[in-house]
Amino acid sequence: MPNTDTAGPGPGDRAPVRTATPRRLLMCRPSHFDVHYSINPWMHPEKPVDAGLALAQWTRLRDLYRELGHTVEEIDPLPGLPDMVFAANGATVIDGKVLGARFRHAERTAEGPAYLSWFRAQGFTELLWPEHINEGEGDYLLAGRRLLAGTGFRTDPRSHAEAQEFFGVPVTGLTLVDPEFYHLDTALAVLSDDEVMYYPEAFTPGSRAVLRELFPDAVLATAEDAAVFGLNAFSDGRHVLLPESATHLTGELRRRGFEPIGVDLTELLKAGGSVKCCTLELRGR
Ligand code: ARG
Repeated sequence: MPNTDTAGPGPGDRAPVRTATPRRLLMCRPSHFDVHYSINPWMHPEKPVDAGLALAQWTRLRDLYRELGHTVEEIDPLPGLPDMVFAANGATVIDGKVLGARFRHAERTAEGPAYLSWFRAQGFTELLWPEHINEGEGDYLLAGRRLLAGTGFRTDPRSHAEAQEFFGVPVTGLTLVDPEFYHLDTALAVLSDDEVMYYPEAFTPGSRAVLRELFPDAVLATAEDAAVFGLNAFSDGRHVLLPESATHLTGELRRRGFEPIGVDLTELLKAGGSVKCCTLELRGR
């Protein structure tokens, strides 16, 4: 079958035609964004943050989602919670069920209940306040009907069983080893129901073997890709929004028929976050 996708690779190349599906997303405007504590190696409170630039970069990402046909809802940012912009950490939502987030660090604990009350106010009825620490979609990434679950730095491995019981989908635990890649979404991104890209060095040997077994054709990131947070990406099945400096990944994605869109979120990277961290997917039934 000829490849009629104009954004795809040239003639003769057999990359699949990619189809985007519209998503419902939750974001939190970085009105109170700052770096005045350090809970990951990217955060240097002595380095100044340009609040105006952070807001402009974030706004561009939000508008881009809307231009691509996605629905973006916003939760009101709360003063005193500078990391609340990282909406991915606020919960995990599958089939309309909401697993609340329970943060590892005291600096962020108030975000969990804040996000959960947003869901309650929006009419979500199946909500679980978790027993174990989990940082939402920072460590929980859905690939098809399998929930990939990070641990090692933030999410407690006991949360994986709690998530499996609550959502009723198989949960696959993956252990992170490099403090620079402290959440699963800094080391792995889901591209489609059965495709991912990841940085092997961020995982234990056992978890790497699991990833190889589940995703033998995965896009593997280089150290350079990972260092610019290239894996902190969002895919709608066709468009992949990722940090613009992840040039090797961008080429790889294009070769496979995806349409990579580079985004500049360097101001938010000062807190250790980028595209995916700013984005929580609200999956209905
Ligand atoms: N400063 C935040 C923290 O360390 C950044 C969170 C980034 N979010 C993410 N989904 N990786 O918790």
